Amino acid sequence: MANTEPFKFPASFVWGTATAAHQVEGQNVGSDFWALEHAEGTFFREPSGDACDQLHRYREDIARIADLGFGAYRLSIEWARVEPEEEHFSRAALDHYRRVLACCHEHGLQPCVTYHHFTSPAWAVSDGGWEGARILDRFARYCERVTADLGDLMAWACTLNEPNLPASLVLSGVLPEPSGKAPPPFVVAAAQRCGQDPSTWKPFLVGDAFRMRDVMVEAHLRARDVIHAGRSDLPVGVTLAIQDHVAVPGGEDRRRDALERSILPFLEAARDDDFVGVQTYSRTRFGSGGPLGAEAGVPVTIMGYEFWPEALEGAIRYAAEISGVPILVTENGLATEDDSERIEYVQRALQGVARCLQSGIDVRSYFYWSMLDNFEWFHGYDPRFGLIAVDRETQERTPKPSATWLGEIARSGVLPTRAPGSSRRTP
Ligand code: GCO
Repeated sequence: MANTEPFKFPASFVWGTATAAHQVEGQNVGSDFWALEHAEGTFFREPSGDACDQLHRYREDIARIADLGFGAYRLSIEWARVEPEEEHFSRAALDHYRRVLACCHEHGLQPCVTYHHFTSPAWAVSDGGWEGARILDRFARYCERVTADLGDLMAWACTLNEPNLPASLVLSGVLPEPSGKAPPPFVVAAAQRCGQDPSTWKPFLVGDAFRMRDVMVEAHLRARDVIHAGRSDLPVGVTLAIQDHVAVPGGEDRRRDALERSILPFLEAARDDDFVGVQTYSRTRFGSGGPLGAEAGVPVTIMGYEFWPEALEGAIRYAAEISGVPILVTENGLATEDDSERIEYVQRALQGVARCLQSGIDVRSYFYWSMLDNFEWFHGYDPRFGLIAVDRETQERTPKPSATWLGEIARSGVLPTRAPGSSRRTP
């Protein structure tokens, strides 16, 4: 498995770290997720609160990752800040993001900008939300405005983050099949908190996974066209959650069915895009009865899935084959308390990227998820994916050894044959 020689990545290969606005900025009070986090009986372990206060500390964060050796930063624009009420755009919020993107350029970082990373303004997910047609015009209008105001400072634009995720979670057995029943009480409470009709208030992830999939394919295509109309030379794509789907003997049909009903529609839509973003953390195995749990003897991460860094290679190969467009790895990483495990995970994942490049696949970037320990959605602040630790009281940042290690690889473009002090988990 281990490569025998250090691997030299192409000089044009882009190395970055990734975040999403709601997970790091803090006080995203106008968003649907804020309402969900604060509703009675919420499924969220804790609310996002101040997150990493990146709203105010972006300069420090951007300067730090540039100093570490990275050349790019993937971040998202928060729709709820930019358009807090329908058709009322905030000049101040757009100016804020202009300063953030300008700061990236000052430090030599190429901004990879996601227009929608899970959260939406609470008003925007009314009238059917991500299950209905009205969001298409709403999202397109927001994308048009963001591109007009900020597009000139972007290096890549990602329309939607993981729009396949709800369907993928159903088909890998994490979420139940949509039942058509009333939403859970905390979603009803959140809708009421926002003054919306609970029966038609549909934030991302909490509605019918397959209706959302179909709406989001359409939303991506509309957004891509709007962004290109605003800036024709800006590379535009969608980022997808792609666990490596593996069949054990007899599970081939279930594997194919899961792919066809979650990821394939987006990869087919991506055929006319400029790239597809691959986001991979683990693998999912399928048997004849459907998704299987972790294989005996394979360690499981804090997130509950297998420690399986080789999944990235499989996901890249699949995405490249179906879409036929260049691949950006827009997320890959590990939540762990043991930073040497993170180094080992990334080392092995990057060996997979190297094998893809060696076999002629056009992979152009590796963005580690995440720059900072941050708000991991339903799990709250417990899972720590960051290269940089964040003190939850003081917001003080402390880079971990993995930050220096990966920054050095980013600077040199050379992947050593093995990670320092590794081998425990080598299969
Ligand atoms: C996702 C999101 C990130 C997560 C990350 C770790 O993939 O779900 O893009 O927001 O935090 O994946 O789970």
